Amino acid sequence: MHLTREEEQIYNGEFGWANQICMKILIRLGELFNATRLIPISSAHVSGVSYKTLGDAPIEFLKSLADTDGRVKVKATLNPQSFSPEYLGKKLPKKICEKQFTILEQFERMGFTRSLTCTPYYLQKPEAGSHLAWAESSAVVYANSVLGVWTNREGGPSALAAAIIGKTPDYGMHRAENREPTILVNVKKPLQNETEFGALGIHLGKILGDRIPLIRGLKNASEDCLKQLGAALATTGMTNMFRRDARSEKKGIEKVSVETDDIKRTIEDLSTATGQEPDLVFIGCPHCSLDEIRQVARWVKGKKVKPGTECWVCTSRHNMKQAADCVKNIERTGAHMLADMCTIVSWTETLGIRTIMTNSAKTAYYAPTLNKAQTMLAPQEECLKTAFKG
Ligand code: F3S
Repeated sequence: MHLTREEEQIYNGEFGWANQICMKILIRLGELFNATRLIPISSAHVSGVSYKTLGDAPIEFLKSLADTDGRVKVKATLNPQSFSPEYLGKKLPKKICEKQFTILEQFERMGFTRSLTCTPYYLQKPEAGSHLAWAESSAVVYANSVLGVWTNREGGPSALAAAIIGKTPDYGMHRAENREPTILVNVKKPLQNETEFGALGIHLGKILGDRIPLIRGLKNASEDCLKQLGAALATTGMTNMFRRDARSEKKGIEKVSVETDDIKRTIEDLSTATGQEPDLVFIGCPHCSLDEIRQVARWVKGKKVKPGTECWVCTSRHNMKQAADCVKNIERTGAHMLADMCTIVSWTETLGIRTIMTNSAKTAYYAPTLNKAQTMLAPQEECLKTAFKG
């Protein structure tokens, strides 16, 4: 890889250990993928923030980076942690909470914003055409496909290194020739709701590998539905982008069709619970947009959550503030608006949650393994009907 003089100095340790180790991570990655240089990024987003998934081992590494002047050079945000301090923080053992706060403290010492969300694009929409280094897979697909920005699917360490150096290796999704569709997907019948969009993503992810599809049949899809599609696509496959623009169609590319039955079967396969009432009804994977919060607030008005059922609506703290009135109305019903956390990387097992109902195909896919929970996958309205009486 070609390095500038300053990059070489960083590599040789002249700017301290943290910068040196981060530069080494980026160069190793660049060499693996035949990048010829590093390019500047306008933001980085780091995953691997939850103590539940991170464990103890990386805490010392984070401390060492912060101790040796590892400081971010660009806007740098964080994925969700393992609980919401106001609600679940009071139900969990003190030790768990302390460990989680230690992790957050190290990131903050390095200059990361305590965003704790998988939808950093709601905090500040990145400019179309800008280069980023984001690690949350759902956000990566959304950013490339809907926002028109350019990012690879980073791992936690490479996004962290990119944040501290302010650059990323120039390969993959940073190059125009790799953003062209190589397969045409025909969705035969219009999809009805966000859960069907998620099911389409799960189904396609298994077929596509890392190929970029041009998807026909997504007319008038809302950004919230596309968010579900992207999150699910990244769950079962390595695709980092989908296209919807007919202009990008190339002659002679492979074609596949998606039938109504494919969607129906995917939803059935992701619903593993048999007959029992859910312990938890969960909306907010990926984190809710302002529109989604407003929809929930409208639907639950005047209703009460059934006794014995937990109902969680997850979003960013930023969106909670923006939709403060809706948040109050939702909480009056006995449901919980939770910021900063992700149910999948939270301690649901410790809280005795064994069955989760959700509108998110991504959550339904992961919950049986990561939360040891049975799942019920259904659109938001059906989820809310199950959680509420009246
Ligand atoms: Fe976000 Fe967690 Fe879903 S990080 S995309 S809420 S699995």
